[in-house]
Amino acid sequence: MLILGDSLIELKKIKDNSIDFIFSDPPYFLSNNGISCKNGKMVSVNKGEWDKSTGFKSDVDFHKKWIEECKRILKPDGTIAISGTYHSIFQCGYILQELGFKIINDISWFKPNAAPCLACKNFTASHETIVWAAKSNSSKYTFNYDIMKKWDVSKDKLNNQGKQMRSVWSIGLTPKNEKKHGNHPTQKPIELLKRIITAATNKSDTILDPFMGSGTTGVVAKMLDRSFIGIEKSEEYLKLAKKRIESV
Ligand SMILES: C[S@@+](CC[C@H](N)C(=O)[O-])C[C@H]1O[C@@H](n2cnc3c(N)ncnc32)[C@H](O)[C@@H]1O
Repeated sequence: MLILGDSLIELKKIKDNSIDFIFSDPPYFLSNNGISCKNGKMVSVNKGEWDKSTGFKSDVDFHKKWIEECKRILKPDGTIAISGTYHSIFQCGYILQELGFKIINDISWFKPNAAPCLACKNFTASHETIVWAAKSNSSKYTFNYDIMKKWDVSKDKLNNQGKQMRSVWSIGLTPKNEKKHGNHPTQKPIELLKRIITAATNKSDTILDPFMGSGTTGVVAKMLDRSFIGIEKSEEYLKLAKKRIESV
């Protein structure tokens, strides 16, 4: 089910204890008129109005509101994975702990082909963090350990075939062939979602994404026979997500 609307409103309509797994890629609030590099050219980092910070306190309030709703709708054994950079991930991690979630892992998505740093004043940003947490300390959450151990890591130099999967995943930036239905500035790679969804869920589980964007979570949920609920406030992105999910 795809819902066009604001998550702060739409999440309230979802039943308590009804969702097995949430993947959330919320606004990072990093669109502050900085610069980045794309295909060797200087470009603005701005992703859109939805990614503009309205100040530290108001960003934290926003994250708290949607994470509180996620806690309510997760089943007792359910888990949530939140992705972000330093602009947002520490805020989200603090709120998860404040609300009594149990942090299971912080996964580092290392981008071997990350864009270079043009300013040369800091290390090149080349990873995002995914915090994976269970609803509470007593959650008997799903972790498909054996499947992850056997995962095809031939393109991931930081993991070894047949060994325990590590919490650092080397996955390239979203390839062009995953963008053939249209463009979203922060579209996640399918491999990233495949790993976390396979690890944390079973067939027929219900997965929710409150900031669906181009629908990568929905695409993978469908590929892996999971049910999906996606919320997105931009009509353009919702249409793109629908196209991508229908094409699976
Ligand atoms: C970081 S992007 C998600 C990208 C997604 N993971 C993908 O693979 O395409 C965040 C998305 O959340 C949407 N968004 C921002 N605020 C929202 C809100 N309050 N309710 C619903 N969607 C929102 C934006 O329009 C944007 O598409």
